[in-house]
Amino acid sequence: DGIRDSVASRGLGDVYKRQNIRMPDLTAYIDGQISRFQKELCDFLRIPSISTNPSHAGEVRKCAEWVANHLHAAGIEKSEVIETDGHPIVLGEHRISEDAPTVLVYGHYDVQPSEPDDLWTSPPFEPTVRDGRLFARGSVDDKGQVHMHLKAIEARLASNVDMPVNLKLVIEGEEEVGSKHLGAFLDKNAERLACDAVFISDTGMFSPDLPCITTGLRGIVYTEINVYGPASDLHSGSYGGAVVNPANALATILDGLKDDRGQATVPGYYDSVRPMTERERADLIRLPMDEETLRETVGAVALGGEEGFSALERMWYRPTLDVNGLLSGFTDEGSKTVLPSQAMAKVSMRLVPDQDPDQVVEAFEKRVHELAPEGVTVEVKRFHGGAPWVADTTHPIFDAASKALERGFGAPPAFIREGGSIPIVQVFEDVFDAPALLIGFALPGSNMHAPNEWLDLSVYRKGIEALANLYGGLAAGL
Ligand code: BES
Ligand code: ZN
Repeated sequence: DGIRDSVASRGLGDVYKRQNIRMPDLTAYIDGQISRFQKELCDFLRIPSISTNPSHAGEVRKCAEWVANHLHAAGIEKSEVIETDGHPIVLGEHRISEDAPTVLVYGHYDVQPSEPDDLWTSPPFEPTVRDGRLFARGSVDDKGQVHMHLKAIEARLASNVDMPVNLKLVIEGEEEVGSKHLGAFLDKNAERLACDAVFISDTGMFSPDLPCITTGLRGIVYTEINVYGPASDLHSGSYGGAVVNPANALATILDGLKDDRGQATVPGYYDSVRPMTERERADLIRLPMDEETLRETVGAVALGGEEGFSALERMWYRPTLDVNGLLSGFTDEGSKTVLPSQAMAKVSMRLVPDQDPDQVVEAFEKRVHELAPEGVTVEVKRFHGGAPWVADTTHPIFDAASKALERGFGAPPAFIREGGSIPIVQVFEDVFDAPALLIGFALPGSNMHAPNEWLDLSVYRKGIEALANLYGGLAAGL
């Protein structure tokens, strides 16, 4: 218990050294601590750090402090909570030697809202284990994966293998709202945060036995279309037929944004879409992909989308244009004969290299106005955006990481892409002129952003050891 008390403030590695206790090997250390690791992760998951909701700002801050304390507890020398105009950024620094390469670990401690809460089998912020899965909002996106890094670092520092890289950690609280303040922070602190590689676990893997390196992400632009009609709701009998119904007008606009082959009708939308390379096609074909399984996983009657492309191509290599939300008129139970005065749609576009978010949103806005019928007023609001990213896989870090992952998982990693976005990845590469290495642990169907999000606990355990080994393996590629 003496030891346990000191862990809270210093990390077991230091305790071992001070008390002249022989350092355990990595596997033994992780096996000995894994149940404590899981308990800690549950504490992390209990904090509802929902970044989009201003009423949760206090919880977000509390979560930042939790992370900073745990960096320290993992044996990392310095940790700090840094204020921004939005949610705080947590910074960690651990210096091994002047000559060692530096790896910057990035992750996020904020989460998406949990609603609709009634669809959760157990409450979103009361972590619960069922069938080897840990259910909670943030369990896999991204608190669980951040925690795996913290525990991998702790294990490496507390066991008899040395840490061959300097570490910097940037754990932010605004990823789920577009990393609004992180870009400026990186720019301002470029020297302090200088690094040779950026290491990120905020993506997925194909199956529990197939580790994956993500080599591309889609970008995003997120918009809201508002259509205004009559000054107030009207009796749909008295006035119906005499005024333009904004809900109908919105439907016309949305319908016009896609053609019947499933392509966006925004002029120039596909002009800068980079075609797949031979290597990418070969990587894709090799994956154990079955569209019927995908259909079952998502529980749809059929898959669909742009004509002429496979589902993986449509998710990873093609841009999209999708309604994310719709609101207008009477939506309660029963009926009400009313002509709404306004209608709203949230529309997002996932972008691929080399589409430019600013250009796309400009052209989109023009197209929406073009499609708007006479008799209504249309406004387009722009929310967050982010650039797509693709890795240069010829950098030696990919080979080094592949070898280290193969050792941990017993299988060589697959190179995959993801359809999701992490807007800051391209910014990291630009600011630090360093490669980003994305190795994620979310399994298919793990319900990121949805009810009943889960983390596979055997992947959690295996991933911690693989990451701890990777810190060593990466040094060879830097
Ligand atoms: N972890 C995800 C990114 C991701 C999604 C990776 C799906 C792999 C598969 C990340 O937290 C996320 O959700 N990002 C947002 C960014 C947006 C809010 C700017 C996204 O993709 O919607
Ligand atoms: Zn997310």
